[in-house]
Amino acid sequence: MSSLSLPEAPATPLDVERIRQDFPILRETTAQGTPIVYLDNAASTQKPRQVIDAISGHYERNNANVHRGIHELSNRATDAYDHARQRVAALLGITDTAELIWTRGTTEGLNLVAYAYGMNNLRQGDEILLSVLEHHSNLVPWQLVAQRTGARLRFLEIDDQGRLDLSMLDHLLTERTKIVSLTHVSNALGTVNPIREIAAKAKAAGALMVVDGAQSAPHLPVDVPSLGADFYAFSGHKMCGPTGSGGLWGRREVLEAMPPFHGGGDMIEWVELESSTYAPIPAKFEAGTPNVAGAVGLGAAADYLAGLGRDAILAHERALVAYAVQRLGEIEDLTILGPRNLEERSGVVSFTLADIHPHDLATILDSEGVAIRAGHHCTQPLMKCLGVGSTARASFYLYNTPAEVDTLVDALHKARGLFGY
Ligand code: ALA
Repeated sequence: MSSLSLPEAPATPLDVERIRQDFPILRETTAQGTPIVYLDNAASTQKPRQVIDAISGHYERNNANVHRGIHELSNRATDAYDHARQRVAALLGITDTAELIWTRGTTEGLNLVAYAYGMNNLRQGDEILLSVLEHHSNLVPWQLVAQRTGARLRFLEIDDQGRLDLSMLDHLLTERTKIVSLTHVSNALGTVNPIREIAAKAKAAGALMVVDGAQSAPHLPVDVPSLGADFYAFSGHKMCGPTGSGGLWGRREVLEAMPPFHGGGDMIEWVELESSTYAPIPAKFEAGTPNVAGAVGLGAAADYLAGLGRDAILAHERALVAYAVQRLGEIEDLTILGPRNLEERSGVVSFTLADIHPHDLATILDSEGVAIRAGHHCTQPLMKCLGVGSTARASFYLYNTPAEVDTLVDALHKARGLFGY
């Protein structure tokens, strides 16, 4: 159990107690009245009042379809929708807002690239370079493309700390490599990949570079265009925005050369019975009535994150992870996976505890009000590489506190005791 000799809680640049007032859900308790300690942020983050109000305000005052009606409410909805794109683009350093396509999240963004680009440009003998660290959403779409086009999948491997073996790039990147698609930050281990360096090599080899930014957009001060990639996909719900919102940034020349993904209303310029011409980007990739309220909510989330400061958020998470690693290190039989150098890790701490199944651990922690994720984290091939079926994963965000890390540690001591360790 935590004792009188607790290590000193770290100071961080964020006024977390004030920030927590913005998140109504953080006042929730379990049925037994235990405060909920939410450490499942890599799965989805909580929403501040500013985002909740932006969404309800949209439905209360501005709701209508966008880009269609010539009436007051449609104009207001269209303005709000377009303004949201500017806010999210600004957060991510995107100056050409037409390069930001709204999606339902990272999975849809990656599928958009796989289908609209991959299916139309790859042939037998071409290669797609991925890694064993990838989330299923950056594996399965490429498997489907490979099956349909005859392209071959190749994989970067990892070292014993879950870091990509970059020496493999020398022989895996060849004139056959047409696409390199990698995660920026591993959702399962927290590894931060040196995307800029990899993108430079991919581009030098003539390959298209795709980045899964699901776990980097929320946590790192990413300036997307300067990564040197061609595509960057991210999710709104992992960065204080609503579920079903997200975006795909793509380089203008590539987006303009690519055929549409979905066909329908709003993505066309002119339609005949047998053929159509398409709207300019981003509309070309946004068929149908969009998730207007989702975009408005994500715009508010972008403003919220920008207001706190991206560097401050990163510094806060780094301090919290360092504290978590230190405190978890006190627990006998607990093994932390992922990079030991905390500069190479984002706000995710995956671990195993003796031979207690991670699902059992998560269930015991839940009875103490502590929410973590346990399982394969949608990275089954990675689990196989690591020689584990699953892990327990605590993941942090801007509203978590050192005291919550202490609660996690106390609950893990309890779990150990219950299992007779
Ligand atoms: N990709 C999300 C996670 O890592 C769901 O939990």
